[in-house]
Amino acid sequence: MKLAITGKGGVGKTTLSAILSHLFALDGRRVIAIDADPDANLAQALGIKASDIKEIRSIAEMPDLIEERTGAKPGSMGGFFRLNPRVDDLPEGIGYKIDGIALLVIGKSKATASGCFCPENILLRRLLRHLFVEREDVVIADMEAGIEHLTRGTAEAVDAFIVVVEPGQRSIQTAETVKEMAGRIGVKKFLLLPTK
Ligand SMILES: Nc1ncnc2c1ncn2[C@@H]1O[C@H](COP(=O)(O)OP(=O)(O)OP(=O)(O)O)[C@@H](O)[C@H]1O
Ligand SMILES: [Mg+2]
Repeated sequence: MKLAITGKGGVGKTTLSAILSHLFALDGRRVIAIDADPDANLAQALGIKASDIKEIRSIAEMPDLIEERTGAKPGSMGGFFRLNPRVDDLPEGIGYKIDGIALLVIGKSKATASGCFCPENILLRRLLRHLFVEREDVVIADMEAGIEHLTRGTAEAVDAFIVVVEPGQRSIQTAETVKEMAGRIGVKKFLLLPTK
């Protein structure tokens, strides 16, 4: 079960991601919750205590890890780096564990959020592919608002997109755009979840 939760800003994506993560974990499933939003707050929604949240960093902001795995410093372009870095140990190794859920934060700040062919993006893409394609765990990804993430070549591996919609024209418009793009990249299921 690999789910990406999307929708316009503020519609309830993070709340839904946290609730689903806890429900699957209560059901005895191993859950990996991914916070892919640059403005990360899934940790709060999952109920992680404030003092621990301060210590949770995004993988995109772990230069030592990026260099160790890819063989190149983040931000470097044009040099040689591994295209197939090891990632399978990351959920257990650096994921924050709460009630049977491992939280991985992967969002990039806007300043570095380009789709560049650079070590940090290679590592994050490889990690998402691993989580979506190669794992048996339930994976729930809280995506950033909007549709940009659909153009990065990782989302097509999920089983379903859940688009949270408010009963408003703009929210429904975003959902329609997501549906159209998701269909084009071959996402198998597309679910709409109205919040009211
Ligand atoms: N079903 C709901 N009913 C009432 N309030 C809700 C519901 N879902 C979420 N909220 C509240 O709405 C606010 C926004 O929710 P949330 O952070 O989950 O949205 P989001 O889509 O993740 O936002 P962002 O685009 O900023 O990441 C929060 O204060 C949350 O508690
Ligand atoms: Mg959110």
